[in-house]
Amino acid sequence: MLILAIETSCDDTSAAVVEDGVNVLSGVVSSQVEVHAKYGGVVPELACRKHIENLGPVVQMALNEAGVKLEGLDALAATVGPGLVGALLVGLNTAKSMSYALRLPLIGVNHLESHILSILLEKPDVPFPYVALVVSGGHTNLYLAEAPCRYELLGRTRDDAAGEAFDKVAKMLGLGYPGGPVIDRMAGEGNPEAVDFPRPYISPDTLDFSFSGLKTAVFYFLRDKAPALLASDGLTDKQSHQVGEGTGAAVKAEDVAAAFQKSAVEVLVAKTVQAAESRGVSTVVTAGGVAANSALRKELSDAGEAAGLQVYHPSPALCTD
Ligand code: KG4
Ligand code: ZN
Repeated sequence: MLILAIETSCDDTSAAVVEDGVNVLSGVVSSQVEVHAKYGGVVPELACRKHIENLGPVVQMALNEAGVKLEGLDALAATVGPGLVGALLVGLNTAKSMSYALRLPLIGVNHLESHILSILLEKPDVPFPYVALVVSGGHTNLYLAEAPCRYELLGRTRDDAAGEAFDKVAKMLGLGYPGGPVIDRMAGEGNPEAVDFPRPYISPDTLDFSFSGLKTAVFYFLRDKAPALLASDGLTDKQSHQVGEGTGAAVKAEDVAAAFQKSAVEVLVAKTVQAAESRGVSTVVTAGGVAANSALRKELSDAGEAAGLQVYHPSPALCTD
């Protein structure tokens, strides 16, 4: 069974040819990072236009790399949501048109379900039930995956997604977009104990997350204690009026990155382990762009080992959309 799969939920234009559900014959991703970087985040209208330009060549490359012709396909698949509506429409309508022209079935794929299941592309034997931590620029969700197609949402962020917090902290530090990978790299050279940022536990009784308070704590720290590190273009107008004289940076940007990352990762790890223990599940998987974070991967694996859990991370290329 050969499926051509199309993904345009956010800013990456992607196509893959997959055999029998798990054998990825080709996967082509055209990144739009350069288009959106100067705006500090994804601009939906630009993302749609780029998808229209890129999708044809991306599909053709995926078919070529897999050595498959259109006539050899058995079905098409496309992300139906959640995502940027205009961006989704480009991929979905392309897939619908191809399905009509080729008289092939079209499978609509839920974006979050594909993150929950992405580990199975590399490790098809990961056993159900498992807890899945889906952490990206748009979501921070904990699921109990009981079986394929059977998922229960255990917790979610009540405000910012974890990736959004990484991106906003990077913006405050003038590190560009997307910020997660840069923070990850810089954190490795900083002292995570240099600043004691809050651990944003909403409450131990819930598996929900909250990251907007942590982001604000980083802003107040930079404003009051290290204004030299605060990038002027990383601020809203309101914030820029609040920046004081300060005393010069006593800490380095690397320290702020490390301390912020430590706080965010600690909460993600604690809630994920709590979710597995409270449901009596012994397997945990991660997914989404933030699952590429080196500290999250290490800390969750260590905490999992201490708690007797099997923890699986997809390779970084399969973490993202
Ligand atoms: O899943 P994804 O590619 O797109 C969606 O948001 O759906 O995730 C992108 C997010 C961005 O916020 C980016 O900063 C973050 O994932 N990210 C990371 C790392 N790599 C990507 N965050 C922390 N550490 C990383 N190494
Ligand atoms: Zn995603």
